[in-house]
Amino acid sequence: MSTSKKHFICSECSYKSLKWIGCCPGCQSWDSFHEKEEYSSHSHANTKHETIALVPLKEIKNTTQERMCCEIDEWDRVLGGGIMPNSLLILTGDPGIGKSTLLLQVSHKLAEKYVVHYFSTEESLQQVQARAQRLSCTTNNLLFSDKANLDTIIGHAKAEKPDILIIDSIQNCFSEESRYVQGSVNQLRDTTFQLMRLAKDNNIAILMSGHITKDGTIAGPKTLEHMVDGVFYLQGEDRWQTRILRTVKNRFGTINEIGFFEMQTGGLKQVHNINEHLLSEIQHSPGSVLVSYVEGSRPLLLELQALTIESKLGIPQRVVSGLDHKQVVLIAAILEKYLHVKMSAADIFFKVSGGFKIKESSADLGIALALLSSFFQQPLPPKSIALGEINLTGNIQPVNQINVLIREAEKFGIQQLFVAKNQTVEKTQCKIKRFSNVYELLALFES
Ligand code: TYD
Ligand code: MG
Repeated sequence: MSTSKKHFICSECSYKSLKWIGCCPGCQSWDSFHEKEEYSSHSHANTKHETIALVPLKEIKNTTQERMCCEIDEWDRVLGGGIMPNSLLILTGDPGIGKSTLLLQVSHKLAEKYVVHYFSTEESLQQVQARAQRLSCTTNNLLFSDKANLDTIIGHAKAEKPDILIIDSIQNCFSEESRYVQGSVNQLRDTTFQLMRLAKDNNIAILMSGHITKDGTIAGPKTLEHMVDGVFYLQGEDRWQTRILRTVKNRFGTINEIGFFEMQTGGLKQVHNINEHLLSEIQHSPGSVLVSYVEGSRPLLLELQALTIESKLGIPQRVVSGLDHKQVVLIAAILEKYLHVKMSAADIFFKVSGGFKIKESSADLGIALALLSSFFQQPLPPKSIALGEINLTGNIQPVNQINVLIREAEKFGIQQLFVAKNQTVEKTQCKIKRFSNVYELLALFES
């Protein structure tokens, strides 16, 4: 026989209590407790089990589905070659970064070939229309609604079966049937779960947007990452109007690809020649060194900037952005140990230009040269690039994919390469300077 027990549960964090509480001890939310009946575990002994037939994988019908491309290369490539039918994808980013703009441009292109229904849950249709006019994205193929009721959206999608459903944004969807507080993380999860079922059961690709909150790790789309097929971040750069589209998760493609856009008055414009963009800003001065690495399938040419200055404080400062702080501290320690340059008495400020983040150890040689160049206040030879790893003994090691990097560097007029002694390099126009150990780097600054 089944027995039931009543208790109260927090709709925000699922904290359980035998009596009602005004403020949740788990998440400090107010008025979030509601009553729930729980049945004891042995009750399911009486439930009837459906008999199911299991099948081996080779008996599953092979239905290779074509990806839906929108011909915006920077988008299609990051998505792994287009949107997969029946996938649930989320595009996230800070408010105002350009998610709605990108979604509108992408849907406009997709609507040329597919049935796309766009639900603007945040903005009125007049606002969407104004944006569409600004972006020249007015087409009769793309249909809009400003309904935000999830039950209505799901009912509509089941009846009409569009190829693609856009929901901008997921946070503004609500469900009258939901037992969770509107806007709560639990409701967001519930909504996403229902949309996942809609996508899989009806072969509809769903693309939704979501804001990241300041503490994005706790609330918001972060908590949805495990439930959806793909998570894409649109990020901005500090100074430029550049937007980078990154993949955090993609069940149908690599997560290493990145796409570049530039926000202009007429919307997001693709930036194919990102390196030209990056190099146009570089000034040849002490502390500045060019490095290169492959991000996804893209070789990027980036400038490292170092500033070392005698410290006036007891503990010298280390301010690093765009690189792992420990990587710079380690290279500074290696230089001090083997070259006796007093980095430990200097404040070190270090950054990667353009707001990029480098996670590669192939930047080690560049970091060492940038530090030394600033320390001795001498610039490196112009149009040169550094590609090498440094190990703890001060030895300089070769890097991967160097020929791809060199080909890209040559296109932009790079004339000299600083590499490891045992680095194999294909034929190149560039002058090559080889180093086996950090000791040899000092020769570049002896004047
Ligand atoms: P939006 O797409 O509404 O951002 P999100 O959906 O991520 O909140 O973009 C808003 C910003 O983009 C706003 O500050 C204005 C700017 N913008 C342009 O610079 N050019 C344009 O053509 C458009 C449509 C927006
Ligand atoms: Mg928006």
